[in-house]
Amino acid sequence: MNTLDNPMAPRAVSPEAGRNVLAIASGKGGVGKTWFAITLSHALTRRGRKVLLFDGDLGLANIDIQLGLMPRYDLGSVVSGKMTLNQATFPAESTGFDVIAGRSGSGSLANIPPSRLQLVAEDLVLMGREYDHVLLDLGAGVEKAVRQLARAAGTILVVTSDEPTALTDAYAFIKITAIERPEVDIRVVVNAANSTREGERTYSTLLKACQGFLRIAPPLAGVVRRDTRVRESIRNQTPLLTRYPNSEAAMDVEALADRLLAG
Ligand SMILES: Nc1ncnc2c1ncn2[C@@H]1O[C@H](COP(=O)(O)OP(=O)(O)O)[C@@H](O)[C@H]1O
Ligand SMILES: [Mg+2]
Repeated sequence: MNTLDNPMAPRAVSPEAGRNVLAIASGKGGVGKTWFAITLSHALTRRGRKVLLFDGDLGLANIDIQLGLMPRYDLGSVVSGKMTLNQATFPAESTGFDVIAGRSGSGSLANIPPSRLQLVAEDLVLMGREYDHVLLDLGAGVEKAVRQLARAAGTILVVTSDEPTALTDAYAFIKITAIERPEVDIRVVVNAANSTREGERTYSTLLKACQGFLRIAPPLAGVVRRDTRVRESIRNQTPLLTRYPNSEAAMDVEALADRLLAG
């Protein structure tokens, strides 16, 4: 029997991090992780890929809100043992990708025991077999629960803005991840940049710190410009690529998706 069907089934070996599981992390909150995870999922879907977006922000789950969804099931139902991840998955209607919502009827998921979180992470890797890409929207910060979920991911996109605090926190996240998992593929996304040029400068500041102190050089996945349409589309609970497909931020994420698929 597949462990997806039976959450309690014994596991011989812990599956490795999913090669097609992509975590969106940040360090600091409010840098646009959730918005970016949604928009990248949408862009990949528009390129014909089968995508699952998992809301892994255990404290402030809000993919459902940004997309205007009313999930009947969520991660809370999985953690409480009522259903499997597979069963909690549903299509985000207008976008064409699937979602596992994080909102829990019974309050925050911030206190899930590590052993249960481990099972969720392992099941997510297994779910990846049914999809071309699994995107994992992580909570802010570097605490254990965030890192534990991030372990499901073979690639981690670290999102930062140009604010010094966001940069410092992105660096802290990269540092702790690189020490724990030297093999992991870390890349940087500069979001809400005033211009592509400025975004690239922000990246090079972060890169210098990584090279100087950690002896690693995480590549730039892309720069996404600050764009008033982002807020507008979130307010309307409509994806940016549906509402304003020609906006600057939309084009930046589309280009980033192309580069990601190109390798
Ligand atoms: N490229 C952008 N341009 C303008 N505003 C943005 C951009 N990306 C994100 N935002 C704003 O940042 C806010 C926080 O985004 P969110 O995805 O909730 O962040 P996080 O998940 O990192 O906490 C959004 O409500 C949106 O208004
Ligand atoms: Mg978020």
